[in-house]
Amino acid sequence: MKPRKPGLTFQDALPHWCPSTEFAQITNAGSLSLPFVETYLNRVMLRAKEMLTGEKYSELRGDIDLFVKQESNHYRQHRLFNQKIEEAGYDAVKPIGDRLQADYDEFLKTKSLRFNAAYCEGFESLGIIQAEFFFTQIDDLLAGADPRVVALWKWHLAEEYEHRSVCFDVHKAISRPFSYASRLGGFFLAVRHLSKFGKDVSDALLACDRVRMTEGQRATSISSEKTYRKRFGRFALPRLLNVLSPFYNPIRYRAPRGAAAFLLQYE
Ligand SMILES: [Fe+2]
Ligand SMILES: [Fe+2]
Repeated sequence: MKPRKPGLTFQDALPHWCPSTEFAQITNAGSLSLPFVETYLNRVMLRAKEMLTGEKYSELRGDIDLFVKQESNHYRQHRLFNQKIEEAGYDAVKPIGDRLQADYDEFLKTKSLRFNAAYCEGFESLGIIQAEFFFTQIDDLLAGADPRVVALWKWHLAEEYEHRSVCFDVHKAISRPFSYASRLGGFFLAVRHLSKFGKDVSDALLACDRVRMTEGQRATSISSEKTYRKRFGRFALPRLLNVLSPFYNPIRYRAPRGAAAFLLQYE
């Protein structure tokens, strides 16, 4: 696990960065969530680090430091890309982000560290699924895409795979003896909460695009969105079910094909 800075810039990148604008906008909704989610993860992990004192946790504290560095690089790079979406004038998106930030402020203020760590682990378990999907399932969707945006996601998701165990280990360390029930609660909450954000934002982005379309183009766009959502759902569902197992441990997951090789260029 090591933090890398790919130094990506997006001067003339477009919100429609690949041939399928529906796939682009659904992915963009994910990018728009990350400055909120990943700053929250870091705040939770740094709180946990203060609790995990003593020699027993010295390795885990080191892992938290690397995790925080990786996530900080992630949300900074995504912020640069997200500016391109803001500049394109999707005004309906901002209040949805403000609500997500308010939820995280509320969680940090009113909920236990265990609750927050369980949410973080729920989010991180989705990251490994996204990583496998991006690296192994969607070469057709990425053909002809803007290489800077593809690099943004591949670098990010390959590092998500690298630090996949940190939140799991932290949650386990601070939540004995009920870590399974707590982990599941965090997982269901993260799935529900972030799916709603993703759907609300992608609906807002696509609604804005569709205003400028003809009737026929709009019907094609709606059908292409449905096809993509079904495709992702079919891939993700069995993997989401794996997370529910009491024996789930992200350390056992195999690296997505090509992920480690992709990162070599940034070392
Ligand atoms: Fe990240
Ligand atoms: Fe992460």
